Amino acid sequence: MSSYAENQNVSTLSILDLVAMKQAGEKITCLTAYDASFSQLIDQAGVDVMLVGDSLGMVIQGKKTTVPVSVDEMVYHTQCVVNARKRAFVIADLPFLSYGTTEMAMQSAAKLMQSAGAQMVKLEGAHLNIIELLVEFGVPVCAHLGLLPQSINQLGRYKVQGKNSHDAEKIIEDAHKVEQAGASLLILECVPADLATKISQSISIPVIGIGAGVGCDGQVLVLYDMLGISLGRRPKFSKDFMQTAQDIPSAIQQYHQAVKQSDFPASEHSY
Ligand code: KIV
Repeated sequence: MSSYAENQNVSTLSILDLVAMKQAGEKITCLTAYDASFSQLIDQAGVDVMLVGDSLGMVIQGKKTTVPVSVDEMVYHTQCVVNARKRAFVIADLPFLSYGTTEMAMQSAAKLMQSAGAQMVKLEGAHLNIIELLVEFGVPVCAHLGLLPQSINQLGRYKVQGKNSHDAEKIIEDAHKVEQAGASLLILECVPADLATKISQSISIPVIGIGAGVGCDGQVLVLYDMLGISLGRRPKFSKDFMQTAQDIPSAIQQYHQAVKQSDFPASEHSY
């Protein structure tokens, strides 16, 4: 299957390319990345999006949660990824409490976009005033709904969100609100597959799922989970692609193909 980007002879992808993929029914592939070497491998495999996630606090720094990650650490890792990137679209996470006020959000986004070279910033939750302000000043925003890892100290543990109808309605409502506020991408984490499908079909911005079933417009995994090298237990929604690959580039390629062909996630990776 030739992809949208190959057909368009695109160099670095833009948000318009991701929207066109959704409209064309082509799945969007995304992996987290934190350094130049993996950035090059992921980019060469043709993966569409690299997310410099604050998951780096856990998989790079060995911390228990994403909460301690700072803006300066996100800037450093985003620079590393951008330095080796040619084609993939790069999103950087706004870390915990770096967008608590509009002023803080503007300063943090400025560092990630200007100093580090991110094309979009991601924030957890339906913070509509923050999204609106960032968008007004030209910062593309990816909203993150469902399981919000930065709220782990409120949640108590990582668990599936939106299982009862009240919680599911709230996530649907928030998805529409973040789209209306100007977010141009949505990540849905750890929600039932039918809920994620419903949301993906009812909003026009691309929805990238993680633990959200195959009905989303694209998929993201934490790189080290899909290479089977994360500390601790791999989540149910992830898959170790190294089990069927000879080397790391082949594992990344297999993930990319599996998402493009809707072979991943399978029902055993979904809720
Ligand atoms: O930080 C991260 O890696 C993320 C993904 C889990 C979506 O936010």
